[in-house]
Amino acid sequence: MPLKNRKLIVTGGPTREWLDPVRYISNASSGKMGVAIADESFARGADTVFIHGPMQEAVLAGREYRCVSIESTSDLLEAVKAELAPNAVLIMAAAPADYAPEEKSDKKIKKNSDELVIRLKKNPDILKNVAAIRKNNFSLSTMFVVGFAAETHNIEAYALNKLEEKNLDLICVNDVSRAGAGFNVDTNIITIFTRNRERLELPLLSKQDAAGRILDCVEKGLEKLPQNYLE
Ligand code: PMT
Repeated sequence: MPLKNRKLIVTGGPTREWLDPVRYISNASSGKMGVAIADESFARGADTVFIHGPMQEAVLAGREYRCVSIESTSDLLEAVKAELAPNAVLIMAAAPADYAPEEKSDKKIKKNSDELVIRLKKNPDILKNVAAIRKNNFSLSTMFVVGFAAETHNIEAYALNKLEEKNLDLICVNDVSRAGAGFNVDTNIITIFTRNRERLELPLLSKQDAAGRILDCVEKGLEKLPQNYLE
């Protein structure tokens, strides 16, 4: 089995960008999709590491694989970079905040006026950083990288664009406007695209079952890789 003994890095959950000591920008990701992939990866014998943003302890309780907790998108970038390894698989199911406040106030912002303008700056894109690192490091070009796309419209076009731009082997697209798909639910509806534009449309599944189908595709993809140093 191509995943057995192979390093598999999964990210999950949201990131958090603080405005002041009591307020932050984040999103509704629960981390359940990431945990489901990490569970399935561990069950298949992969050397699993789960890098996750703030999430409920109960969702993670009892896991026997290594978990690394981070808070901001920049933290997530550093944690992912620290885990990259030849032949590893990276699956980015996290929902990193794309923007962060330009400045964090060290005191609670007072509500003295009717309007409050907050300037945001773009966060680093983790998958684009990984693509650049792999381009300049031959041993990491043997990695297999999977992205997610959370879309509400123009689903396929945006997803294929991300596949290209972020140099992904697979992309798992969820239409987060559909009931039972995406953020903070126990199920998902995913379409998987490969680098060669093969398409696999999955029905409404539990996140656990969806994770199994994603890892089946990863295993198929690994079998096709020309450089496969591990076996
Ligand atoms: O956590 P759950 O409640 O179970 O919900 C699961 C989920 C909806 C969060 C998950 O299925 C999902 O879609 N995750 C990706 C969310 C997202 O950030 O999508 P995106 O289309 O904005 O980003 C595309 C890809 O780039 C993703 O793999 C993302 O992890 C990655 N990304 C995004 C921003 C950023 N700064 N760096 C990145 O690498």
